[in-house]
Amino acid sequence: MTRVRCDRTAAWGALQAAFANGAAGMDLRQAFASDAERFARFSQSAPHVFADLSKNLWDADTETLLLNLARECGVEAHRDAMFAGAAINNTESRAVMHWLLRFPPLAPVGYNGYAIENVAKELSQVHTTLDAMLAYAQTVRDDAAITDVVNIGIGGSDLGPQMAVLALDAFAIPGKRFHFVSNVDGHELDAVLKKLKPESTLFLIASKTFTTIETMTNARSAKAWFAAQGGTDTARHFAALTTNVEAAKAFGISTTFGFWDWVGGRYSLWSAIGLPLAMAIGPQGFKAFLAGAHDMDEHFRTAPLESNLPVRLGLLDVWYRNFHGFTSRSIAPYHSALKRYPAYLQQLEMESNGKRVDAAGEALPFATSPALWGEPGTNGQHAYFQMLHQGTDVVPVEFVAVKKARHALEGHQTLLLANVLAQAQALMVGKHDAAGPSQGDVAPLGGSKSHAVDARGGITPTGGHKNFSGNRPSTFLLLDELTPTTLGALIALQEHRVFVSGSIWGINSFDQWGVELGKVLAKDVEARLLSGEASGLDGSTAGLLGLLRA
Ligand code: F6P
Repeated sequence: MTRVRCDRTAAWGALQAAFANGAAGMDLRQAFASDAERFARFSQSAPHVFADLSKNLWDADTETLLLNLARECGVEAHRDAMFAGAAINNTESRAVMHWLLRFPPLAPVGYNGYAIENVAKELSQVHTTLDAMLAYAQTVRDDAAITDVVNIGIGGSDLGPQMAVLALDAFAIPGKRFHFVSNVDGHELDAVLKKLKPESTLFLIASKTFTTIETMTNARSAKAWFAAQGGTDTARHFAALTTNVEAAKAFGISTTFGFWDWVGGRYSLWSAIGLPLAMAIGPQGFKAFLAGAHDMDEHFRTAPLESNLPVRLGLLDVWYRNFHGFTSRSIAPYHSALKRYPAYLQQLEMESNGKRVDAAGEALPFATSPALWGEPGTNGQHAYFQMLHQGTDVVPVEFVAVKKARHALEGHQTLLLANVLAQAQALMVGKHDAAGPSQGDVAPLGGSKSHAVDARGGITPTGGHKNFSGNRPSTFLLLDELTPTTLGALIALQEHRVFVSGSIWGINSFDQWGVELGKVLAKDVEARLLSGEASGLDGSTAGLLGLLRA
């Protein structure tokens, strides 16, 4: 497999030239005015997700150059290597096969042109574990005496199941509560434990490595609480979800569900780490979740690049980060159940692509991961959307809208959908105050009395508190309904778009060495907090240590 880093391709130079020669100053309002087909040209269906990419700062020429970039970088070969089970996580010598966790059982050789024989052994292990895990989930669902399930995990062992259980609450079994404890801050566990009784509680200790200090500390405290409250049957009240089954057993947990080192933590929701979700929505719901993701995998694996949604999103990400210089992306799900979706995507994107060296360890001369942040709409509108509309930085916004609601409250859904549409519209069209053209008017390039052309050629209203410059880009993802299937497809879409931008940047999106230093130093500081030994510390750390011990 040949990977070529983006800055070493001819397409990169062509994109730089195109940006300098006009693409930087593209005006979306003019693009729509001059092309009646723009919406059709820049929107598409992918499995279970419709995407409108037309309100983004690109045109057909830019997209062609970006597609050339993807080809020159070898994105297709890199993708095929992932689907062939190659060890593309080169710094850890591991394959990257979270997609296999949602592959149908007993797929025939040549399934959709896919050579399953490469990974037949792993696929059989996946389904053996899945069957066992779903059978256990059903047992717990049927067990009315268990009313509370507490997932103890952090990062990928928390954010995925938490996000999905909240998102699919409408499908959850009544009579069971799901709690998620991740923080080593004892306030979190303490607040949950106060609501529990040992005889009606099941603790799931979720940790790929079974060594993560936060999770192990919380797990030990949960076990101590259980014993102190008179709990006796650990086998019934504790289960572990881990690749390190031996460590779980040594910890005293006999009910374990394993997974494999070829599943990254932030990609592990589809594995045993998804057990809380399987308990909440049931085996059929969990299978539908996997099937939705698999549909998106097949789209990513087989669709031509120009109609491949993860590819188009990943290319836009590169275009915005490396050419426009946008430093962040705001995530705006217009569905309150998607409240942890922005946090989930934060880990997915920033732990995968927040790298400053390429896969060979060479320092990169260009930017990588943007910062991701956001809140469900309409709440964000009354908090930080001010900055999105009138701040000095341009932040591309990624909306998610869901057409059909699952409640019957009159008026709410229409109002919600009106808001998401209006926000995307407002970001693009802007508004000019009384001194300038009326709302919705497009000022001519070159400016008018109240407009100027900014450094990159964009139209900027000159001053005025009530002016909105507009021309601010957004992507609009639309689901028909929020169901296990559509959520699965949406999350797989996000995984693959992160793969695409990481491929183009030439990085390893599947390691996370950047989290190690803080872990090592925390151990040292913990010992110093206990002993008071401050020698060799920098002045600030030593000063704060003294205050914390006083
Ligand atoms: O600290 C980073 C990290 O390794 C994440 O990648 C991972 O999701 C999280 O910690 C939790 O790790 P584990 O599942 O091994 O406890």
